[in-house]
Parts: sequence; structure tokens; C-alpha cells
Amino acid sequence: MNFFEQTFMDFLLEHQERHGRTYHFLILMNSILNAAKRIQHYYLTGALKGYLSLTGQINVQGEKCLRLDEMANEVVKYHIWRSGRVIQAVSEEEEDIIQMNPDGRYFIYYDPLDGSSNLPHNLPVGFLFGIAKRNLEGPEDYHLRAGKEFIAAGMFVIPTGTFTIALKEAGCWRFHIDETMNYVKPTRISLPSDRSSWELSFNAAHREYYRREIAEWLLKNEKKYQFRYLGALAADFHRLLTNGGLFLYPAIINHPNPKKNYPEGKLRLMYEAAVVSFMCQEAGGLAINEKGKPILEVVPKHHHQRTTLFVGSKELVEEIASIL
Ligand code: F6P
Repeated sequence: MNFFEQTFMDFLLEHQERHGRTYHFLILMNSILNAAKRIQHYYLTGALKGYLSLTGQINVQGEKCLRLDEMANEVVKYHIWRSGRVIQAVSEEEEDIIQMNPDGRYFIYYDPLDGSSNLPHNLPVGFLFGIAKRNLEGPEDYHLRAGKEFIAAGMFVIPTGTFTIALKEAGCWRFHIDETMNYVKPTRISLPSDRSSWELSFNAAHREYYRREIAEWLLKNEKKYQFRYLGALAADFHRLLTNGGLFLYPAIINHPNPKKNYPEGKLRLMYEAAVVSFMCQEAGGLAINEKGKPILEVVPKHHHQRTTLFVGSKELVEEIASIL
């Protein structure tokens, strides 16, 4: 008799039935999984087929577009539209809110290919998403939701083949892709309390452009921990969830080239920071911005809003909060 690992869809079906829920979320997640597998396929064949090259265009964030960025966006858009369960979507790749099914139950915020500077090197990138539920009883509600209103948030690390998802008040879980392209073997993720594995993750090239208190904290504390930085949030955060520590992307305020300053931070609130913060909370961690406010409490004013981010083990995030 063969041994079959539990798939993500089996896991989710059991979860939904245990909590007496409908199957709508299952249908949405199936479409997200299909999109992720397709992106994984395009990534793996991309170097040979030339998808990893530049298109010459600039996206709404002012970054150079790679063909795979556009393809990944189209793939996600198609699959979630096909699910029929999404009312509106926000994509990192599109300036405007994407209108989908007026009867859809969910809002989705996604970055189809995060960390794309890793692409030409065949290094890891991520597909990140957060999901909020529409107000089904009352008046029409709005897509600009704080992370605390997410019902789920997750990320695929591509092409590594891992999928991590946090379900509201039901923990953070990791799955691995198998030979049939199913994500299998749920493992519950909790940030380790033992400091010996903790790591710091930040772009060290910017450290002298951070606010003084943060630069000083780093100088004083960095030798206590290992340092790791891949430059793709999904990949860096993936390590952090297992090893513990702190990922930080503070405001850049003193750059000699003012165009390289990010006074509000660089990362996007809705489909980057809130997504990892939601996962971190379900894994026992914490996330704040540079004002000391929990990321999950921040109500976005705009769907592409930027934020500063300090996310990881509670004690380290609290240490940062105490110096801000
Ligand atoms: O926001 C996109 C992103 O590529 C993240 O995935 C990553 O954490 C960050 O930017 C890297 O930025 P930098 O190149 O400035 O370190």
C-alpha cells in the first residue's frame, strides 16, 4: 500500500467542515493554487524560453517589468476570476482596482511575483496574497481593509515549491509541492522561542540611511544574531518563520540621492507587509511600522500604500517598539 500525504485541499476541506463553513473559500483557494502551479511552471521553463528577460516597460511602482511579472499577473487574474468568488482584486502589477464578479464574496490583494530582481538569477521569488471577506449582510463595504480583517494570507516560494498559509485564528501552516504538483504534508509553523537560531534580515546597504535610533539598535545588537538577506520578501520571511528573529525594512531618509529615499518605507502595505504580518501573528510573532503601530491595525488610505515594516519574533519587535 502506498502512503499518501495529506494535500492542502484535503486539509482545507476538513478545516471548513470542522468549522461548519461553506465551500466558497475552498473554491477560491483552488484557483489560487492553480495559479501558483502555473507560475511555478513558467518560472522553471522561463530561462530556456526567455520569459525571464526584461520587457522594457515600467510597472506602476516605477520598476522595470520582466515578462514573467506580467505573465504571473495574468495567470492569477484569470484563475481568481474563473473561481467566481472574488468581487475585487488589488494587484501589485496594476494601478487600478480590478473589478471581478459583483456577487463575489472575497477581496483579494496579491503580488504575483515578488522579489523579481532574483528572477534573472533563477533565485527564489514569491507569490503573496491576502484575503478579506465582503460584508454579506449589511451595506456594500470597501476593499481598503486593515490586515486584521484578513481571513487568510499566504505565500508560495517559487520555484522552491513551498506554500505557507495562515488561517484566521487557526495557525500558520506550511506545505511542500510533491511530484504530482500537489501541495502536501501540513506542518504547523510557530516561531521558535530559542534565540540561538534567530536571524536579522535587512538590506545592509541602507543602514546608514535609517533613522538614528534604528541604526544604533542595529550596531548594538546585530552581533547577537546571524544575518541573512535574499532580497525577496517571501524567501526572507520563509526563513524567518522557521528560525525566528527580525525582518526589517525601515524608512530610508538620509540617502545621498533623494530619489532613493523612502520616507514611508518601501514595501506595500496590503499585499506585502499585511500578508507577512498576518502569517507572523498566527505563528506567534508580531509586526509593527516605524510609528510603533501594529501593521495589522493600519487601515490603508490607498491600495498601493507603502509602509515601514518590523516583523518577526515578539521580543525583538517589542525591543524595536521601545526605541521608536
Ligand atoms: O517589494 C519588493 C521587494 O523585492 C521585496 O520582495 C523585498 O523584500 C524588497 O523589495 C527588497 O528591496 P531591496 O532591494 O531594496 O533590498
